[in-house]
Amino acid sequence: MNPIIALSELRFRWRAQGPETLRIDALEVAAGERLFVEGPSGSGKSTLLGLLAGVNQPQQGRIQVLGERLDQLSPTARDRFRADHIGYLFQLFNLIPYLGILDNLTLPARFSRHRRARALARSPSLIAEAKRLLTHLDLDLDLDQRALARQAVSELSIGQQQRVAAARALFGSPALLIADEPTSSLDADRRRAFLELLFAECAEMGSTLIFVSHDASLEGLFDRTLRLQELNQATGRSGPTARQRAAPVAQAQAAQAPAAQAQAVLAQAPEASAALTAK
Ligand SMILES: Nc1ncnc2c1ncn2[C@@H]1O[C@H](COP(=O)(O)OP(=O)(O)O)[C@@H](O)[C@H]1O
Ligand SMILES: [Mg+2]
Repeated sequence: MNPIIALSELRFRWRAQGPETLRIDALEVAAGERLFVEGPSGSGKSTLLGLLAGVNQPQQGRIQVLGERLDQLSPTARDRFRADHIGYLFQLFNLIPYLGILDNLTLPARFSRHRRARALARSPSLIAEAKRLLTHLDLDLDLDQRALARQAVSELSIGQQQRVAAARALFGSPALLIADEPTSSLDADRRRAFLELLFAECAEMGSTLIFVSHDASLEGLFDRTLRLQELNQATGRSGPTARQRAAPVAQAQAAQAPAAQAQAVLAQAPEASAALTAK
């Protein structure tokens, strides 16, 4: 196996005196693999994704992604690494509400010269690449029309927003695509159709896909399933709290203030944050 991710002796807790959230002895993901991550709410799926993306840092252990030791990089170097190599697709999309469709979609090219160069290697312009991705994801928007390109993403339907978010994550062919429950607001038919489009694009780009969902019916579409509760030996791991059981959507929303989290993942490079706040 040629691993794109190799993780060992990982220990993570959110607060120094708090319970251990993750304890994973070893995990490897092969380049090009499509991995399904399954586990109940609160089991640490999003925390694990944040570690793989270099948003969270472990207290102990090695996290190697594309040959880089993320656990040894500075915060700035991790931001750089993420901008260059990782596409992140969120449950609530986390599009930037004050940017139009085109600006949202091409954001990765603004933060990373590599992503920009790869987008331009595929298409004659950034707009052309944006359109290619949207068409591939089954959404035809005429971004040559200035008004449409500038239209607020909040005016799109949920299904359209999801496709714009997916195109943004795929923009500039990141080696690793991380998707955190991105289909939970779609009905079953549209979920499967969306996933097939995502697979096709990942295969074409040679991207590895790590996909979290609690919809077990999707599992058979993937190369392998990681059952987090079996892998995770953390002492402080918790099942769903009463509040999570009662209100999973409200909990998810509370956990991910959308614009703030998108900025955390997409825009931690100082020049990027400045560009965003300048808008
Ligand atoms: N930003 C955070 N700060 C403190 N605790 C957190 C944070 N995010 C998640 N947790 C806690 O970590 C545990 C795992 O959460 P999470 O990774 O979001 O689970 P999942 O994605 O599987 O629902 C939960 O107990 C949750 O309350
Ligand atoms: Mg989660």
